[in-house]
Amino acid sequence: MITIEEHKDLRPLTTFGVPANARYFCRISSLTALEHLIQHPIYLNNTRFILGGGSNVLFTHDYNGLIIQNLLKGITIRYESDDLIELEVMAGEVWHDLVMHCVHHNWGGIENLSLIPGTVGAAPIQNIGAYGVEVKEVIKSVTGINLETGLLRTFLNHECEFNYRDSIFKSKLKENFFISSVTLTLSKKTHRINTSYGAIHDVLKQQHITTPSIQQVSDAVIQIRRSKLPDPTVLGNAGSFFKNPTIPLAHYQKLQKSFPEIPGYTSVNQEVKVPAGWLIEQCGWKGKRVGNVGVHTQQALVLVNYSNGSGAEIFSLASQIILSVKEKFDITLICEVNIK
Ligand code: EPU
Repeated sequence: MITIEEHKDLRPLTTFGVPANARYFCRISSLTALEHLIQHPIYLNNTRFILGGGSNVLFTHDYNGLIIQNLLKGITIRYESDDLIELEVMAGEVWHDLVMHCVHHNWGGIENLSLIPGTVGAAPIQNIGAYGVEVKEVIKSVTGINLETGLLRTFLNHECEFNYRDSIFKSKLKENFFISSVTLTLSKKTHRINTSYGAIHDVLKQQHITTPSIQQVSDAVIQIRRSKLPDPTVLGNAGSFFKNPTIPLAHYQKLQKSFPEIPGYTSVNQEVKVPAGWLIEQCGWKGKRVGNVGVHTQQALVLVNYSNGSGAEIFSLASQIILSVKEKFDITLICEVNIK
């Protein structure tokens, strides 16, 4: 059986905490419930949006369609050897709870992704990443229902078209694929500890840790995130609002003449990735408050809702930031957050 609610208040369901109502709203706790939903007239006659933990979406107005919240739960061991473990994790599990579960069992691979808000099902959609690791490195497959055809399908890692903060689920299959579970391959013994990211290295050095455990890496990441990123339960936000842009090397070299200290990480094909936080800070936005919303004091990539801000106010602030970065650096920032 399914229950479809009307005029649902979405404020508590997104980490930005902005006011918005959904015309229709349905929680899905089993695949049978989803099968019922996709035959329902309200589903068939409305646009839809799949919600996980609400940590990467900004509602700028009421949603005049059906919001489907993925609440599928469960973790199952699918395969285990001396050195590897394969976990099938249902999409509605909370990502950080999964990380803590794995750290507790000393299963390695996602400890650098500690404290990222959101659900397991959302992780492959934007290929979440932090501190030198992207989730694509441990994903074996992603399973779900194609909402156009109603068919169950499993995408193997190479079929997911993973990229920086991108995947097939965010492009070709956007809003058309309901992820039911994600299967991860994690290490049990031979861990690939990744402390290459400067900030982790610094924290571990301060603590005189030279050969860190999975737990110690996770603790370091949590410490860094708590110092830089606002806790969404205290201050509304959705993590990085923009992606770090990639620009042609020639453009980067031109900018270096006017801004010799511009940071950049060379990626492939003569392109350079520039931290958007630096660009935004250079335009004077860091820590700036505009009415009820603003730019975080510690990390200019994060927009925050101080109190009672609206999605439209946050979007307007984002638009002003995009404009000033374009004017100063001739770089167009792209939103990482899903704007609705
Ligand atoms: N920087 C500034 N000012 C700022 C912020 C950053 O100058 O206000 C510059 C500094 O030069 C710093 C560099 O940017 O050295 C990188 O900053 P940071 O390590 O904080 O990382 P980021 O590139 O700003 C990305 C991810 C974060 C992730 C961190 C750590 C994106 C869009 N963001 O931020 O992801 O936690 O790296 O790996 O790629 C998220 O996606 O929600 C998120 C928080």
